[in-house]
Amino acid sequence: MEQAVSAVQDEAEGTYTHSTTSGEAVLECEGVSKEFSVAGGKVLAVDDVTLQFPASSVLAVVGESGSGKSTLARMLLRLMPVTSGTITFRGQDVTHLHGRHLRGYWREVQAVFQDPFASFNQFFTVGSLLRRSLHLAEVPADEADHLIETCLGYVDLTPGQALGKFPHQLSGGQRQRVMIARALMMKPTVLLADEATSMLDATLRVNVLNVLHDLKHDLGLTVLFITHDIGQACYLADRVAVMEHGRVVERGTTEAVIFDPRGDYTKRLLSDVPDLRGSLKRPA
Ligand SMILES: Nc1ncnc2c1ncn2[C@@H]1O[C@H](COP(=O)(O)OP(=O)(O)OP(=O)(O)O)[C@@H](O)[C@H]1O
Ligand SMILES: [Mg+2]
Repeated sequence: MEQAVSAVQDEAEGTYTHSTTSGEAVLECEGVSKEFSVAGGKVLAVDDVTLQFPASSVLAVVGESGSGKSTLARMLLRLMPVTSGTITFRGQDVTHLHGRHLRGYWREVQAVFQDPFASFNQFFTVGSLLRRSLHLAEVPADEADHLIETCLGYVDLTPGQALGKFPHQLSGGQRQRVMIARALMMKPTVLLADEATSMLDATLRVNVLNVLHDLKHDLGLTVLFITHDIGQACYLADRVAVMEHGRVVERGTTEAVIFDPRGDYTKRLLSDVPDLRGSLKRPA
């Protein structure tokens, strides 16, 4: 069944009015490249990447360290300018947005990174951290507690488990789920997770992967999952894009990439996870 995904728009605030049908690309990049100047020359970190991120689906971008995944992510998030190419969100060119329009885009496309500790102020409880985020986003205080409770629920945390705690009193998986809850409070359309599960041990990792899976299902979220681990990519994603030296060298449905990989690079990544075909048990 096709699922309508809608998001709040307020032209005056520079956000978007839209309605997107499941399967349509919410976010796209076309011919995107990034060249860095470094001592002794230039590095082409991302080389002519074209990708579509369909509504209510998980796309994994997988590749070895240095393949350009985070650089691509930073450009998609508009945290770093492109050298060339175009980024489109709901059909609008957002490559050079600025001011309030860019702030509107930043609410729509939220991110969670590898180290949740780095995003926490250690001296604040989780409750004050989340309330502060909502205050900065100009969410009325009387709506804040309900929204916080709802978003903690999306990541399987109760207010009692999280709000009065300091970051060091939470497990790594709980910290990462709090960061996901914080991102969800902005009611985003896209959630970008860059190595968000890499620092977690296996049990906590599966837990967070399942939360991300449920968000796609329950909220119609579009998830961009960036990882060096093709096992995690295949566990979670509907589609996989494989990056090598800044280029997308393989793309397809997860099943196609696992069972019928085209490129030697993908085959080599898959050979590092020998039991992947047999153990592919994604959540229902
Ligand atoms: N600010 C920068 N200045 C110069 N070179 C950079 C910069 N950021 C990234 N690079 C280079 O661009 C390439 C891609 O880096 P990037 O961080 O995007 O890779 P990655 O796939 O995310 O790797 P990892 O899996 O280790 O996170 C690397 O060669 C890196 O050294
Ligand atoms: Mg990276």
